[in-house]
Amino acid sequence: MKDKTFLMIPGPTPVPESVMLEIAKHPIGHRSSEFSSVLEEVYANLKYVFQTKNDVFMYTASGTGAMCAALENLINPGDKVLCLVIGNFGNRWAKIAQSRGADVEKIEVEPGEVISPEVLKDRLAKDVNKEIKIVTLTHSETSTGAANDVKTLCSIIREHGALSVVDGVTSVCAMPCKPDEWGIDVLVSGSQKGFMIPPGLAFLTANERAWKVYEQCKFPSFYSDWGAYKKSTQANSTPFTPAVNLIVGLNTALKMIKEEGIDEVNARHKKHAMALRAAIRALNLKLLVDDDNHASYAITSILPPDGVSVPDIRKVLKQDYDIVVANGQNQLKDKIFRMGTLGFVCDRDLIASVGALEATLIKLGHEFTPGIGVSTLIAELKK
Ligand SMILES: Cc1ncc(COP(=O)(O)O)c(C=O)c1O
Repeated sequence: MKDKTFLMIPGPTPVPESVMLEIAKHPIGHRSSEFSSVLEEVYANLKYVFQTKNDVFMYTASGTGAMCAALENLINPGDKVLCLVIGNFGNRWAKIAQSRGADVEKIEVEPGEVISPEVLKDRLAKDVNKEIKIVTLTHSETSTGAANDVKTLCSIIREHGALSVVDGVTSVCAMPCKPDEWGIDVLVSGSQKGFMIPPGLAFLTANERAWKVYEQCKFPSFYSDWGAYKKSTQANSTPFTPAVNLIVGLNTALKMIKEEGIDEVNARHKKHAMALRAAIRALNLKLLVDDDNHASYAITSILPPDGVSVPDIRKVLKQDYDIVVANGQNQLKDKIFRMGTLGFVCDRDLIASVGALEATLIKLGHEFTPGIGVSTLIAELKK
């Protein structure tokens, strides 16, 4: 049926109709007082969602654009950067740092695992001359569905004295993420994830410690220069022509998040992720991240049952039910499929998706008690 496609991927995520209708309006002038009023609300509500007193900059870019805007305004060639890598997106930090001439070291774990605080503590304890200037990490690693304990890791980094630079692309909105309280120095995110709007905007917030490092950066990026963004943000403006329609849509989406409450939005994501995980186990399927304490609330990675392929699961879900789930990435391609519970997702969406997954698995010959996934899911959602 036309127009029924439902995205259960970790971004882009479904967009509320009221947001779509705002985006569909004629663009307004980006130097008008009307747009400045929109920006005033957006900047204030971004601070609320990011749970920070610091400015949140908005770039016309995807999430990677904000990652670049972080490191390209901090690194001088030769700086030592430690990258904590639990998947593809952790590795992206390393690539960006390398592109700026940094001396990059990685701590890397197997897919599905997270960074152990002890391992980080040991490595930083060995850095007696305090050569490590920046430590990058990923909160919710979308390629595996694992989530680092950012609060603990950032407190260890703070004790050492390096700057913590955190990818919150699929965690902001979905999981508790509190930069001021947890001592995250730089945090980035992207619009097509928990923010319930289409791709095209990226966000960055930095604290005073990060600003001191920015001030020592010899060649800050021109387009994403923090100094220019600070000046504009504080004047309810933007340095360059922004994606005005997306920002008008974002204004509506942020108000929806505020109305629900950021803690409640986090709790909804947790409830959905945990209920989905219980349903998957009830269907005799395995999760890549077995420990619920290390699981992202935004994305769940599932291993296919023996004798059933990931491409077949994805194909039947799409063809028969118009539901899109994601494949694994790189070495996990065709080894896992990933279901998003990110952004504008309600209980009904999840019940429909698990029901469709059951029907798909029955069609493909996997054996389980029919209905067990949906009934487990519903029981968990009611808790
Ligand atoms: C955790 C994480 N970091 C970074 C990115 C990169 O964002 P984008 O594809 O919007 O550039 C993504 C995108 O899926 C992501 O999930």
